[in-house]
Amino acid sequence: MDFQLNETEKLIQQTARDFATRELAPTAARRDAEGTFPLAELKKMAELGLMGVNVPEKWGGTEAGVVAYALAMMEISRACAATAVTMAVTNMVAEVICKFGTSEQIQRQVPRITSGEYSCGAFALSEPHCGSDASALRTSARRSERGWVLNGTKQFITSGDHAGVIVVWARTGGPGHRGISAFLVEKGTPGMSIGTVEKKMGLKGSTTVQLVFEDAEIPAEALLDEENRGFRIAMVALDGGRIGVGAQAVGIAQAALDEAVRYSRERQAFGAPLANKQAIQWMLADSATELEAARLLVLQAADCKGRGLPFTRQASMAKLFASEAANRICARAFQVHGGYGYIKEYPIERLVRDCRITTIYEGTSEVQRMVIARSLLDNA
Ligand code: CAA
Repeated sequence: MDFQLNETEKLIQQTARDFATRELAPTAARRDAEGTFPLAELKKMAELGLMGVNVPEKWGGTEAGVVAYALAMMEISRACAATAVTMAVTNMVAEVICKFGTSEQIQRQVPRITSGEYSCGAFALSEPHCGSDASALRTSARRSERGWVLNGTKQFITSGDHAGVIVVWARTGGPGHRGISAFLVEKGTPGMSIGTVEKKMGLKGSTTVQLVFEDAEIPAEALLDEENRGFRIAMVALDGGRIGVGAQAVGIAQAALDEAVRYSRERQAFGAPLANKQAIQWMLADSATELEAARLLVLQAADCKGRGLPFTRQASMAKLFASEAANRICARAFQVHGGYGYIKEYPIERLVRDCRITTIYEGTSEVQRMVIARSLLDNA
């Protein structure tokens, strides 16, 4: 087993770390307070190759692999988790188009994503009545003379109001997962509008919106892969996406641990630094250990995907463990800060809020447990 990063992976990690330290960390609190979408920052990230880390160079990607992608996600998330989720979904969309798209679809969409011409991509699967039970979706796509007509509402769509291209899942056949197709829908499509813009607990520098389709006409070429074969595309994309969310959780948890270490060394209590207390040291030690385990699970899942091995179970384990550990690590770091953790002057307040969603989006912890248990039982 090789725990060494290769030169490309080290380079991407360092590039993301430098950018995150220089451009994202100093402005993360302001983005959170003002809810500003990081348009300029995303453009620079595209120029650095961070919007297609695992996308072939011929489509404008960096072709640095899945481990490099996970490492970059950890660095960006450590500085600004809101910017990181936009990066994650955009990379996921670029990859899914490369995997399932025709060469025309790839040529039309992917270079626009990787170059930053599109500020980001979006992934529209959830609906108001179904999130975990994705195959119950109701948005419909019916054939028309020119292509397809979409009707329905998509819920909780990350960057849906900014994305140049959105992968939209809709029902083209009967009930269940075998009646679902995926489509590439471009920004500005007539009949597509932005519904509710959600007011969230955290990740305030990322937008989460409803997308409403009212007789939205899209061309025949918008169909991704075969008709009624779209559910599998969502599952494959989410397997990869879960590595991204696991990496995001690791990045947030690293930032929380850094804050806990810093604060416990500075803060004086009972005539000595707080860090001298064993109660605090045990919290730091538990957090550091869980963080390392989470990092290794995420990198293992990334490595499996990169090698072309099955990785569904590994990605779910990584996402499950990393997101739950990150919430524990943030909670401990918060506790170490005492009353100061509760006020906005200290970054831990934002980290606790940003971290909370990682056990929910791209499949809740309960969905990850379903995936893991099914793979165990199916293989038994
Ligand atoms: N890879 C490939 N195919 C897969 C697969 C995978 N990992 N998992 C399932 N499939 C296939 C199955 O083989 C089956 O296909 P066939 O019957 O045709 O052979 C089909 O998909 C249905 O599988 P299941 O019976 O297991 O499906 P299910 O309805 O029981 O659902 C589930 C399983 C795991 C719960 C799934 O619905 C799921 O992942 N739900 C969570 C959805 C989710 O993560 N949503 C997140 C929204 S996106 C988001 O949050 C992004 C963002 O903006 C930040």
